[in-house]
Amino acid sequence: MTAADFLPQRRTLTALREAAATCRGCSLYRNATQTVFGEGRTSAEVVMVGEQPGDQEDRRGKPFVGPAGHVLDEALEDAGIDRADVYITNVVKHFKFQPRGKRRIHKRPSAAETAACRPWLDAELQAIKPKALLALGATAAQDLFGRSFRVTKQRGRPLDFDFAPLVMASVHPSSILRAPDEETRREEYELFVADLRALADGLRALREAS
Ligand code: URA
Ligand code: SF4
Repeated sequence: MTAADFLPQRRTLTALREAAATCRGCSLYRNATQTVFGEGRTSAEVVMVGEQPGDQEDRRGKPFVGPAGHVLDEALEDAGIDRADVYITNVVKHFKFQPRGKRRIHKRPSAAETAACRPWLDAELQAIKPKALLALGATAAQDLFGRSFRVTKQRGRPLDFDFAPLVMASVHPSSILRAPDEETRREEYELFVADLRALADGLRALREAS
């Protein structure tokens, strides 16, 4: 079974979100609190794709509302991108974790789980038809662009894929939080903002050309 078995006939974002709430396309729904579907408008020009909801997202039912989401919010602001113009989602819609005492430690989804969940992302992209797509981090980038894709080598520049007229990858904002010291954190943050600015510039160029 995959998410494809749960796709509704109508493929509006509202219908998709409703259907995804009861998805059992892989086993991840069992231990998670709820499906965390993408958030944003159908008219969004940009779709950003992360890995999977984290602890806070699982509790609140919204993507990127925890610590990584705060880094993303700050970076979007610094890059001059309005979060309200962005549709934010994940390749996997349920939180995968390992309990450790009272804490729940994030576990990377397997290739089978990302494949099972992929029909939701494909349907989101179909419904929105964004001008730009940005993959955040290796899990999303490799799911979308192939296993040999290296974010560190190919970040921040246009890629040749047909998900949208402009396709790019950057690091995951949580990687900035994991930087070993404050100076590295600042540097990583500035590189992330630079990638977002490149995305905004690319979008501007697309708008001018059309
Ligand atoms: N990390 C992600 O990849 N997605 C979220 O929604 C939150 C944290
Ligand atoms: Fe369905 Fe995706 Fe959740 Fe698996 S992770 S149950 S495929 S929504």
